Amino acid sequence: MFERLCKNNNYGNLVNGDWVFSEKNIDIFSPTDGKLLGKIQSMTKKEIDNVLNLAKYAQKIWAEIPLNERANILHKTAILIEDNIDVLSNILQNEIAKNKSSAESEVKRTAEFIKFTADAGKHLEGETIDADNFPGFNKNKISFVSRVPIGTVLAISPFNYPINLSASKIAPALVGGNSVVLKPPTQGAISALHLVELFEKAGLPKGVLNTVTGKSSEIGDYLVTHKHINLINFTGSTNVGNHIAIIAGMVPMIMELGGKDAAIVLNDADLDSTSKEIVSGAYSYSGQRCTAIKRVIVLNKVADELSEKIKQRVENLTVGTPQEDAIITPLINNSAADYVQELIDDAIEKGAKLLVGNKRFDNLFYPTLFDNVTENMRLAWEEPFGPVLPIIRVNTIDDAIRIANKSQYGLQSSVFTKNIDDAFYIANKLEVGTVQINNKTERGPDHFPFLGVKSSGMGTQGIRYSIEAMTRPKSIIVNYSPLTSLK
Ligand code: NAP
Ligand code: G3H
Repeated sequence: MFERLCKNNNYGNLVNGDWVFSEKNIDIFSPTDGKLLGKIQSMTKKEIDNVLNLAKYAQKIWAEIPLNERANILHKTAILIEDNIDVLSNILQNEIAKNKSSAESEVKRTAEFIKFTADAGKHLEGETIDADNFPGFNKNKISFVSRVPIGTVLAISPFNYPINLSASKIAPALVGGNSVVLKPPTQGAISALHLVELFEKAGLPKGVLNTVTGKSSEIGDYLVTHKHINLINFTGSTNVGNHIAIIAGMVPMIMELGGKDAAIVLNDADLDSTSKEIVSGAYSYSGQRCTAIKRVIVLNKVADELSEKIKQRVENLTVGTPQEDAIITPLINNSAADYVQELIDDAIEKGAKLLVGNKRFDNLFYPTLFDNVTENMRLAWEEPFGPVLPIIRVNTIDDAIRIANKSQYGLQSSVFTKNIDDAFYIANKLEVGTVQINNKTERGPDHFPFLGVKSSGMGTQGIRYSIEAMTRPKSIIVNYSPLTSLK
């Protein structure tokens, strides 16, 4: 297994069924110990043109293959993934410093996602619509509406889930009859390319799934504005998403972007379980999750007790390597850690109370907790993508809602309370894609709708939603004459 994609530690791109190597490479180093993990290809624009031509051609053939056969290939891919959990999980640990248990869970979840997608795809159904419902029309017209592929999907995935967030674009696109060009994150490409080899091994026809690697500063704009791309499915930062949305023009897009998810804690919340959910939600994978809890907004009456409980749990978080299965592992690179440091320094300078942390060795950032964070601090609004959590104290529920909604982001929020009326009052007012009541913010289960509003994205994902988003209705209207014998 995996003998085709890699030659002498050099990872190729899958192009029209072959693993191809470019002239220039990019070195990929481990965020944990700086060791060289391998090289990936730095593709040229000419090579990209070739990939997109082939993907366009292959899509037409793929769309003709019966849906149940397309679904079978996805099922075979899922089995291959399950057979390779250890290999894939080790690569994730090395390449993106995700701890062992989270890496394994990313891989297992990916196999489950693909199986569920294959089955959901088989339930894609059309409808017929009569014309006479609309004034001025009668029964001699009927629309047969089916769902058809959109064409070639450009899938762009981020570093923090290079396997899962690649598969969650590839599988729904494929079952819907599209071809896919995957642009994986540079740091994370080795993991994603292994996934792609398993799709290929499962029997995908050539050209249906292809990969493009290279520096986004060199090829990113070219790729997203290419005339052969029919849909862009992007997960990543709001800055990059916004840039793509501006330059790509009239092409459909699904975007899952940044977040600043709030955990709103009311006076009657169970503070033990709330603090447990908050710490797990905020610090797992060192806070490098779009859905991480990135601020706590707590009512004054219980703020002292809650912050003490959170502090105790944060002090007990393990810090170390992915292989040791530490909760806090090195951040993806030094500049990510520099950014976290900037937000911390700003909060300290403006008078926030440091409860734990603010300790760092290069890109290994210790879990950091602040109380008394106020609205004039960057930490109240910006997404650190690191292990630092601000606590913001408020007097009223409406103030909590106001601060939650003041954010540019709108991915998810949590509300912790025993009072379902209060929970719904708040949930109805929050400007986010999803509200979790008495749970941390998180994406799964993967068949639920997952979406961000405002700067957190556009379009909806989640298995059925993703398939629908990557197919379109096609209406064929039959116009028929009344039986001549009745005339
Ligand atoms: P990123 O820097 O925006 O990169 C995401 C992907 O976009 C990478 O594959 C990157 O390639 C590529 N890219 C960058 N510039 C591009 C361009 N001009 N054209 C085409 N592609 C381009 O994000 P990240 O650092 O990997 O991930 C962290 C961010 O993603 C956070 O903000 C997080 O909240 C967000 N995120 C959101 C969700 C969600 O579902 N809402 C999920 C995960 C992550 P290179 O690696 O080659 O630069
Ligand atoms: O980083 C963004 C992911 O979509 C979050 O997924 O909530 O399962 O960690 P997760």
